[in-house]
Amino acid sequence: MSQSPLHVVILAAGKGTRMYSKLPKVLHEIGGEPMMARVIDTARSLNPAGIHVVIGHGKEMVRERVKRDVNWVEQTEQLGTGHAVKMALPHLPPEGRTLVLYGDVPLTDTATLEALLEAAGSEVGLLTDVLDNPAGYGRIIREGGKVVAIVEEKDANPEQKAVKETNTGILVLPNAKLESWLNSLSSNNAQGEYYLTDLIALANADGIAVRPVQVAASYLAAGVNNKVQLAELERIFQTNQAQALLTAGVTLRDPARFDLRGRLKHGQDVVIDVNVVLEGEVELGDNVEIGANCVIKNAKIGAGTKIAPFSSLENCEIGTAAAIGPYARLRPGAKLADEVHIGNFVEVKNTVMGKGSKANHLTYLGDAEIGSQTNIGAGTITANYDGVNKHKTVIGDDVRIGSNVVLVAPVSLGNKVTIGGGSTITKNCEDNTLVLARARQTIIEGWIRPEKESKK
Ligand code: UD1
Ligand code: CA
Repeated sequence: MSQSPLHVVILAAGKGTRMYSKLPKVLHEIGGEPMMARVIDTARSLNPAGIHVVIGHGKEMVRERVKRDVNWVEQTEQLGTGHAVKMALPHLPPEGRTLVLYGDVPLTDTATLEALLEAAGSEVGLLTDVLDNPAGYGRIIREGGKVVAIVEEKDANPEQKAVKETNTGILVLPNAKLESWLNSLSSNNAQGEYYLTDLIALANADGIAVRPVQVAASYLAAGVNNKVQLAELERIFQTNQAQALLTAGVTLRDPARFDLRGRLKHGQDVVIDVNVVLEGEVELGDNVEIGANCVIKNAKIGAGTKIAPFSSLENCEIGTAAAIGPYARLRPGAKLADEVHIGNFVEVKNTVMGKGSKANHLTYLGDAEIGSQTNIGAGTITANYDGVNKHKTVIGDDVRIGSNVVLVAPVSLGNKVTIGGGSTITKNCEDNTLVLARARQTIIEGWIRPEKESKK
């Protein structure tokens, strides 16, 4: 049995009319990744000699967005699945095997494909399913237990339509036979297409065995034709991820209300409350707690840190034992050291904060460098933008900034500076100074308020 080399052909030229979208079907996402990218990554896990992706509708966008190193093959006219595989034929060597996958079947896993390759040997392997409602699928026709043909729904007679064993579309073929089989396909059928499925009867005619392997669960070979099916597979994908995280010791208050669109690295005793969305690369240290309704994208959060509800974090780093939120917004470049506190309605962008510093209420910190043990009062704003350029604000250690202070950048405050509430700071402040930059209070005693005539 020659079992190498393995080539993978992924079919993705169809239009996806029922998605009602300008986006090509295979670019719609499952778990934050285009379906096509997932299929390619799964194919890659089999270490094939080549991956050939057949594209047609929306080909430029698919190539550009999927960003994977594969052999893109064009099918200008969609004349059927058999015709689509034929487009890849010039790129397939005469020996070895070819596995056919689909860009809109996103959740097939490596184990399923390995089992199929194993069963196929050097002959034909066919991935099948058994469905209560097989309508729309190609039916597996057996004679004396042997798989002899696939009949498409539209070509099936009532007896064949009653068969519940269906074709998933995924199959393995011996390259030695591929060219002759593909060249003998005809489009003389109900849909006027060149059916890949006709290869099963051709294999039988050539005395090559067809070895069926039934999927362990339908989702592993389920395709997406509309948004209903996309949503169903997304939920299955999320449920599987949640189960894996629970199994690995992460507490999810409700696994049905948790979404991971990327990868999560986690320590021990991590607790995640309901409606949390994690995107990209997220790392949570030991004992991290994420409150309800937080959205966290590309973030590294140190041990013991708590993120309170309704916080939004993106491209940021937080040390250990910090307290963030509720309603905090950490934007790209927020780098917070251990024990930092960021409270409600505080926005932090491109700003480094040293150990133990706090900004607890209603504040904007942008393009700033803040030392340790500094307290930023409520309503403090770094005015970092002059309409053209962004400027930096530097704040030392152990600084106390009162409420409602505007720091007009570029400006720097030394260590142990105290700023009176309501100040607008435009000049640098030296270490150990008290700075007031606000109008003095005026009191007029015995002031008689004007009153309306009618009141007299
Ligand atoms: C196909 C199978 C059917 C199986 C079903 C599983 C055939 C003839 N039928 O039917 O037995 O039960 O899948 O979902 O293979 N494509 C191209 N170029 C083409 C035609 C199709 O790239 O010229 C791609 C489509 O983008 C799609 C896939 O191949 O991703 C399947 O094509 P589709 O026409 O949807 O086949 P089905 O009718 O679903
Ligand atoms: Ca289909």
